[in-house]
Amino acid sequence: MSREGGGRRLLVRDLAQLATPTGQGAPLRGPDLGRVEAIEEAFVLCEDGLIARVGAMRELGSLEGDVVELDGRGLCAIPGLVDCHTHACFAGNRVDEFALRAAGATYEELHARGGGIMSTVRSTRAASPEELADAVVRHRQWMLRVGTTTFEAKSGYGLDEETELASLRAIRDAGGIPTWLGAHAVPPEFDDADAYLDFALREVLPRAADVAEAADVFVESGAFDVAQARRYLQACAGAGLALRLHGDQFTEQGAIGLAIELGARSIDHLEATGERGVAELAASPVVGVLLPASALFLGRPMPPARALVDACAAIALATDFNPGSAFCESLPLVCSLAATQLHLSPAEALTACTVNAAHVLGRADRLGRLAPGYAADVVLLDAPDWRYLAYHLGGQLVARTIVAGAQTELR
Ligand code: NIG
Ligand code: FE
Repeated sequence: MSREGGGRRLLVRDLAQLATPTGQGAPLRGPDLGRVEAIEEAFVLCEDGLIARVGAMRELGSLEGDVVELDGRGLCAIPGLVDCHTHACFAGNRVDEFALRAAGATYEELHARGGGIMSTVRSTRAASPEELADAVVRHRQWMLRVGTTTFEAKSGYGLDEETELASLRAIRDAGGIPTWLGAHAVPPEFDDADAYLDFALREVLPRAADVAEAADVFVESGAFDVAQARRYLQACAGAGLALRLHGDQFTEQGAIGLAIELGARSIDHLEATGERGVAELAASPVVGVLLPASALFLGRPMPPARALVDACAAIALATDFNPGSAFCESLPLVCSLAATQLHLSPAEALTACTVNAAHVLGRADRLGRLAPGYAADVVLLDAPDWRYLAYHLGGQLVARTIVAGAQTELR
């Protein structure tokens, strides 16, 4: 998202509450995950794109010089939300498939029949680079409206050199953080996964690594196995990319062990993770990214979030926004699912989609807290209590989104 501080000062005053994860460093885990500080009758002062001060109105005093003031009465301020897992670069839609699933077809069946991911690959390959860029900008607007000020997005609907690179550039140019999901599925022009990976690592990786910050792989039967994922990720690490995995979505294939072995930043999904996986992840620095909107959308079991948090695993929350398994860009809705389905507190949910999500993206030093020196990314909730973030299920909750100290123009 655009970050122009521009030297302007913005004071949001008379807020009902301001809430921010406390503590130092990241990721926050165990009891620290739920430590949110709430200040009643608060203000936040933004300067040069950064947060200069936060506090209670009674401590504000008088400010010298030019300051734009914003009336925060009846609103609550929280840090800009960070969506650390989306597939926001795609063309077309899967609404027909959605209707088939509503009538009883399963996601895996549709995938096996050449629908699912491959259907979006066909429409994404058919789109021009300009159409892909427009699609990401449109999706970014949807995200801003629901309070997402930083988003990651993956390629993975091209699976050829031209479309993968166009996707990564479209994400970058829309202000997103690009991840090369070169190992999302095996496209039909290749006989098998290894032949496809030979091509992807030889032809696409060298150029993808110039644009992407991380690489991701879908470890699942019918996608890539652990040995193939290891080969792909090791090559990507060699090209300087951080590592992410889609793992334990439908079945446990050993993706958690691989994530730990390779020092990945995160393993995402975990709907199928059992007790052993919970214990392994908890003893590691790898973040488990939970995607309850995807589990809901597919009618799948929810990930074992409470067990992970109680075992002191580091977790983050994200949308998984994509046309097939989670057509949902709303982190507030994800926070509601976290509270109602994952048994996380509103405070744990807030930390998971701010500080901890920023950590997954390598940005926890500047994003995810309302504290001096952090980016002035602020969401103003139309609510008397910040916990409406999780409480107001599917509500029109976001009154304003501020990015780098400037109010965003929403189209
Ligand atoms: O995270 N599981 C793999 N990839 C995506 C879904 C992509 C799609 O269905 O288009 C996911 O759920
Ligand atoms: Fe995903």
